[in-house]
Amino acid sequence: MLSVAWLLVSLLSLSLPKTSASSEVGLEARAADPCVAIAGQKWVAPADVRNCFKSFKVDQAIKTNILDVVNKTLAFHTSVNYQIQAPPPFQNDVHEDLLKDIARIRTTNYASDYDLHVDLSRTLKRLNDGHCVWINRCFDSSFVNFLPIPLVLLTEADGKTQNVHIAPEAFTVATAEFPDQIDVWQNSLKGSLKGNLQSLSGAKVLLINGLPPNFAVDANAKITGSFQGLGTRQNTFFSSYQRATTGWSYIMGNFAQQSLPLDDDVTLLLQRVNHTLPEVVKLPYRSRIGAAIAPFTDGPSFRANNCVAVPGTNGVDINAASLARVAPAEVPLIQAQQQPPVPIEVQRKHLVNVFMDGSPLSDVVLPPGLTPPSPVNGSLNAAQFYLLADGKTGVLALGSFSDNSFEDLFNALLNGLLNLKSLGATQLVVDVTNNGGGFICIAHYLHRLIIGPKDTTVPQAGLDTKARAGPLAQLIVKEIVENNADPREQLLYNPANWRNASGEFFAPTDDWLQPPVQLTINGHRDAFSQRLGQECQPESFVTPPPDTALFAPNKVVIVSNGRCASSCSLFSITMSKEEGVKTVVVGGRQGVQQQYCGTVGGQSTDFSTIDTEIKSTGLKNNSLAPPDLVVNGVQGITWRLGFGLDDKNAPEEWQNHPADLNLPLTTKTINNPVAIWEDLAKRFF
Ligand SMILES: *[C@@H]1O[C@H](CO)[C@@H](O)[C@H](O)[C@H]1NC(C)=O
Ligand SMILES: *[C@@H]1O[C@H](CO)[C@@H](O)[C@H](O)[C@H]1NC(C)=O
Ligand SMILES: *[C@@H]1O[C@H](CO)[C@@H](O)[C@H](O)[C@H]1NC(C)=O
Ligand SMILES: *[C@@H]1O[C@H](CO)[C@@H](O)[C@H](O)[C@H]1NC(C)=O
Ligand SMILES: *[C@@H]1O[C@H](CO)[C@@H](O)[C@H](O)[C@H]1NC(C)=O
Repeated sequence: MLSVAWLLVSLLSLSLPKTSASSEVGLEARAADPCVAIAGQKWVAPADVRNCFKSFKVDQAIKTNILDVVNKTLAFHTSVNYQIQAPPPFQNDVHEDLLKDIARIRTTNYASDYDLHVDLSRTLKRLNDGHCVWINRCFDSSFVNFLPIPLVLLTEADGKTQNVHIAPEAFTVATAEFPDQIDVWQNSLKGSLKGNLQSLSGAKVLLINGLPPNFAVDANAKITGSFQGLGTRQNTFFSSYQRATTGWSYIMGNFAQQSLPLDDDVTLLLQRVNHTLPEVVKLPYRSRIGAAIAPFTDGPSFRANNCVAVPGTNGVDINAASLARVAPAEVPLIQAQQQPPVPIEVQRKHLVNVFMDGSPLSDVVLPPGLTPPSPVNGSLNAAQFYLLADGKTGVLALGSFSDNSFEDLFNALLNGLLNLKSLGATQLVVDVTNNGGGFICIAHYLHRLIIGPKDTTVPQAGLDTKARAGPLAQLIVKEIVENNADPREQLLYNPANWRNASGEFFAPTDDWLQPPVQLTINGHRDAFSQRLGQECQPESFVTPPPDTALFAPNKVVIVSNGRCASSCSLFSITMSKEEGVKTVVVGGRQGVQQQYCGTVGGQSTDFSTIDTEIKSTGLKNNSLAPPDLVVNGVQGITWRLGFGLDDKNAPEEWQNHPADLNLPLTTKTINNPVAIWEDLAKRFF
């Protein structure tokens, strides 16, 4: 009896305050959820975003799922063993043992899901390979961290000294892009600088957080990933431009834009233009909600609406009677590709080699004063043609090798080049700044259009390639050739899509992965396909090209900030190494060899595409098959790797691509395409 009475009393005493205060308890629980603080807002403090992200505990089942998907997808990535230790000149840049590190991550305990993400993401970024990246939309660019003062690296009037400056156009860019936040920055400035953000534009940066600016540049170069060359990763810190589909974009650079809420503020020691005394300025980073983030009210709804797999995350059985169609702009792979959205069906027909990034394509606008004037007739989307005031220098500004139509892009390149010639152009600048690649065959066709028919362009101008022949890849091909698993010839592994090293198509029943080519790479046994010939044959030209060269090789210069990747690399490398075309990188640090391109690959793809190959051949139950991914993520890979031109039996990926010139940028030429092109025309022609 006593115990029952005690129990009753205890229950009553417990339940009484509980019921009366139930709404307060609810409020406390909500207040304890840091995601509530950032819900429903466009601009927030990065610390608040971090608190929200760090409130997500690691779910072991989800962690295992992610690591299984990544690790098993890597069996299809050509470069895993090569990347354990790259040869010179990249021996200090690429030395990541991925499988070892994934095993380490499996056994590491993380304070939060965010900490796990940062470790996994950076592990892949250490490859410095923009094809093989892990992107989790739950975190990457779901909130984007901004400062209103993008930086640039300028060469001073003496022609030698380099200094970091706040971009002269910084205030113009920031007021146009952040009209609803600029006051926060204006008011955060102290003393006479308050409200005077404009006066910082062009200032020389003496210290960043108490250290010479190069420390911050180099710290970023260690984690930004994507390009083998140190110079290119240094350049990524600074702002730049890109010809995008609908106009000229401004790329803020890694100092002024972060895809994760890494930093809360920055303290700079500055010397403003026309001032002699240095001043200390502190500015907060502000975090803007990503365009693709679905509304949420708290942590659980943020996770449910933004962090789980979506249509397109995983592959499909391509032979199924009906396939759900996902709008291209919604497909996770397409969102990560640094090219105008190209529908998956088009990518299947016109293969792509394209760079991926956790940041979507920039929609920040290059200010009017820096934007090139009217283009020449024939210009289309990311391919714009200009004739300089000298009347003889034509310019092709090409921000991507992709377009929503392969045919239209081919015709635009042909007509634009012909138009330039008919207007009197005798020399050509090709500006591929921030060109992340695109259609492989457009890259080789452009080479053929400019250079004309010769032994390096006929039958075509590309690289031979190889795919990896892991055990599951071998089974996929077997299912296709022995069991007719791909009757409509839609799969990557279908022999009908490929030619052997003599340029002959395989027969539909040729098992092109047999026998695998066995290699030992960095002490690890590996297996690849036989050498594949090239697929961009003249019979698939959209329009017959002229039968003479449009420009002589010594009358062509290719220029970029080094961030020319994938198909852009295929184009630049063959133009440089086979035709002797000169290459230029703008604004790189003196004394650091600039690479005119990086992330070469051969053909890129991702987990969802490999998953389609697996599902369509009935192999999803195989123990080597990655499970369906349960989070809103993308894992990119290099599926075919191009053979080299200098060393013909080694991959081109880690061979040297030294730019002929590191063009100094000044206050007159910085982020000013026309001024850069005019400078190049004077120096080279
Ligand atoms: C990753 O995959 C490799 C095969 O590619 C396998 O040998 C290894 O055990 C896997 N590691 C982990 C940690 O899953
Ligand atoms: C700096 O001084 C020069 C020469 O007096 C002047 O032309 C220029 O407009 C000034 N710039 C700024 C930002 O004050
Ligand atoms: C532009 O070029 C197209 C095809 O190249 C041609 O049809 C059109 O007449 C041209 N327009 C002008 C204004 O030159
Ligand atoms: C390519 O295929 C053709 C036709 O089957 C054959 O004659 C040729 O030897 C093959 N080339 C190579 C390098 O295997
Ligand atoms: C995989 O295995 C499950 C359960 O054993 C079975 O129901 C399913 O049909 C199998 N799927 C395929 C594609 O073989």
